[in-house]
Amino acid sequence: MTTTTERAVGQPHRRVEGPDKVTGAARYAAEYQVGDDLAYGWVVQSPVARGTLTAVAVDPLVEADDVLAVLWHGNAPRLGKADDPELAVLQNDRISYRGQAVALVVARTLEAAREAAASLQLAIDAEPHDTVLRADHPDLYTPEKVNPDFPSESSTGDVDAAFAGAAVRVDVTYRTPALHNSPMEPHATTALWAGDDLVLYDSNQHPPGIAATVGALFDLPAARVHVITEHVGGGFGSKGTARPNAVLAAMGAKVTGRPVRLALPRQALFSMVGHRTPTIQQIRLGATADGKLTAVDHQAVGHTSRLFEFAEQTAVSTRHMYEAPAVRTGHRLARLDMPTPRWMRAPGEAPGMLALECAMDELAGSLELDPVELRVRNTGFDSYRKCLGLGADRFGWHDRDPRPRRRREGDWWIGTGVAGATYPAMIQPSSARARRQPDGDVEVSIAAADLGTGARTVLTQIAADALGLPYDRVRVRIGDSTLPQASVAGGSSGTASWGWAVTGACRALRESGGLDEATFDSTALVEKLNQEGKHAFGAHFAEVRVDAVTGEVRVSRLYGMYAAGRILNPRTARSQFIGGMIMGMGMALHEESVLDPAMGTWVTHDFAEYHVPVHADVESIEAEWLDDPDEGLNPMGSKGIGEIGIVGSPAAILNAIHHATGIRVRDLPARLDKLL
Ligand code: MOS
Repeated sequence: MTTTTERAVGQPHRRVEGPDKVTGAARYAAEYQVGDDLAYGWVVQSPVARGTLTAVAVDPLVEADDVLAVLWHGNAPRLGKADDPELAVLQNDRISYRGQAVALVVARTLEAAREAAASLQLAIDAEPHDTVLRADHPDLYTPEKVNPDFPSESSTGDVDAAFAGAAVRVDVTYRTPALHNSPMEPHATTALWAGDDLVLYDSNQHPPGIAATVGALFDLPAARVHVITEHVGGGFGSKGTARPNAVLAAMGAKVTGRPVRLALPRQALFSMVGHRTPTIQQIRLGATADGKLTAVDHQAVGHTSRLFEFAEQTAVSTRHMYEAPAVRTGHRLARLDMPTPRWMRAPGEAPGMLALECAMDELAGSLELDPVELRVRNTGFDSYRKCLGLGADRFGWHDRDPRPRRRREGDWWIGTGVAGATYPAMIQPSSARARRQPDGDVEVSIAAADLGTGARTVLTQIAADALGLPYDRVRVRIGDSTLPQASVAGGSSGTASWGWAVTGACRALRESGGLDEATFDSTALVEKLNQEGKHAFGAHFAEVRVDAVTGEVRVSRLYGMYAAGRILNPRTARSQFIGGMIMGMGMALHEESVLDPAMGTWVTHDFAEYHVPVHADVESIEAEWLDDPDEGLNPMGSKGIGEIGIVGSPAAILNAIHHATGIRVRDLPARLDKLL
């Protein structure tokens, strides 16, 4: 084998599949041309939030030759056991949230499916619903665990006594609205049956997980479900587990005996694929006069659904972020007639750190202490301290007049703000195979998914170095559930988890003394490591200007300094960091799923109403990082980078708005009407 000493890791390689994507050669789940008899599905969604569906009538005029099937609980095939009750589609008459799939039309054309779906007559006995989250909701309860597996409550020291005795106190409540994942590629599946085996071209973050989950519903072992996920146009957590589109497409294909394509329209994403729970968070901070925290109390209220418990870990990062002798955190939930909240980029950390880091800014104001210095005085993490110090230097923090509402240029109030960031360094078991080709190149296989982040590219770099081969002599195959089993592209754990398995397989091949193939499974090693609880850290700095007349907010500068392990590819890493920061800008300023309590649903359900940042919203944005390899964590020394950018960046913007205007927005988003 020819070997090279030039390392691929650390190089700013462009995405391997970039040319395929920009030329249109790359195919996404709804683009596969399978067979001559491809049929199209259209989902019919419940118009009420709670009730029973008693009958479905099809207009005979519409049910023309082109309609192949109209499925509802009265005639749909029975499914096997679902771990996630939202996947037990069309199985009974209960309606548990508005937008729930209650029927599926399959037709020869998309237009016929859509027209027939629109004409269905649903007979529904509607019941009163409860969709409003309140801090005094009568049925709040404390879940046993919060996502993914943390205790719901924690307590050290006597928080009440410490708070009562503190020289300086902050007691504030922050509210964040429901938020919706908006990947560029909506959820889609093309399903076909090959004999008794199921083939799914599906857009998701975890092909083996989808195979297992959908297989169980159709009484098939995972090995008999072939999930192909070559390219994914974003997920942010909403594609981490199977969504109803995969089950409905498979059901439609089974009933009609044809391949069925089911692409959710954008509006369906606002009820069928999960959202971030709204939160109501009370934070109490007590400190000594010289700015040492003595008491930290973080109590979060969120919601789950009637069907399924998802408890977001809103207050968990408060357990480690700062040192204080008394720290207490807790979570309570209301079960509402709503879709189940699910993962959305940095579930827990994003809303939780918004509240903590804004409250820290309020404490700094009360102490008349610089907010960077307050954080430095209270962290035990050297890498966080470095991010704050170096970030402040790079951003140009030091000449700042701490007093709010001092800097004005024309109609604009100008202000700057800071906030910390943290994210756990998680690793999950995965396996990989490395196979030497006749020409000496090596093909590496793993059932991972690339959401557009550059994972395929970074795995190629990792493999090249582990093999000692030039980068262009290695090909990485991913996006197929039949490849060696990989963990989910979630929790910012993908590259660290898969990279470990890839490194293991490649080293084994290199050291095999001439074998053609080697495999590696990281399970035993990873289980031991994950008990150590390591984190990435960062510091976000924002400069905003707020129009004194209109209240318009512009983020003129957004800067992040990170300590997130070894950065494997600076090009794709920067894109992950600033992507998270831009999503944080959306959380701070634009994004809000507005509830209509009478309808029991969100009235914002497309991009005309649910605003995400666009290019025109982003002015100067930059991400930099410390050289921070953690060799004890995995063979690459890397930590996850997909989520930390959205943690703390909204707080930095909110804190900058306060510095600019003197107005403390505690109810997100900071729309202009709150700044007048
Ligand atoms: Mo991310 S919310 O863990 O896909």
